[in-house]
Amino acid sequence: MRYLTFALAKGRLAKKTLSLFEQIGITCEEMKEPDTRKLIFTNEEYKMRFFLAKAGDVPTYVEYGAADIGVVGKDTILEEGRNLYEVMDLGFGKCRMCVCGPESAKEILKRNEIIRVASKYPNIAKDYFNNKKNQTVEIIKLNGSVELAPIVGLADVIVDIVETGSTLRENGLSVLEEICPLSARVVVNQVSLRMEHNRIRNLLADLNKVM
Ligand code: PRP
Repeated sequence: MRYLTFALAKGRLAKKTLSLFEQIGITCEEMKEPDTRKLIFTNEEYKMRFFLAKAGDVPTYVEYGAADIGVVGKDTILEEGRNLYEVMDLGFGKCRMCVCGPESAKEILKRNEIIRVASKYPNIAKDYFNNKKNQTVEIIKLNGSVELAPIVGLADVIVDIVETGSTLRENGLSVLEEICPLSARVVVNQVSLRMEHNRIRNLLADLNKVM
């Protein structure tokens, strides 16, 4: 039996995914060591390998078949636009992709003029404004703390993830438009889904039972 390889997005999603796997009897003790610098972990009993990657890289590993299966947020899947199958919504990591800004930007959004949009998700922002709203915008790519952009005058609005809404509230911003709901998803390489169909189907069925 060949190894089934999993790419997990580093951070909270990986922790939740591993505890979900534990519930269906798949454990990976090595991965829990707090100070480990090891990058790939093996479960010999089930012939499975797990590695942690930056969220944005998970779809890349899966598209190329370096990982058979990935667990990553819907935001990353949409942003990366890779060729892969999204097979399951794990139901955790729930949040929303939104257009946010000061209340005063509501009017600017209605006017359909060229506005500046800052985001860590330029593809999602571009798709939303160009294709769903038929509005031409200037997208400014940022790498974090995006809420700063409308406050310091870099952009009119932002496209960003809203979970509890506290980052927005504490910075005097609000949700102006909702783009889509987000959560953690299981993605599968297109060839792996055919070649390892039974193993993957059984795994998904087991996950379904505990969710
Ligand atoms: C994310 C997101 C928002 C915040 C939303 O940022 O980009 O800034 O969380 O969460 P909330 O609605 O619960 O306040 P993250 O913490 O990943 O850091 P970053 O801003 O550096 O990207």
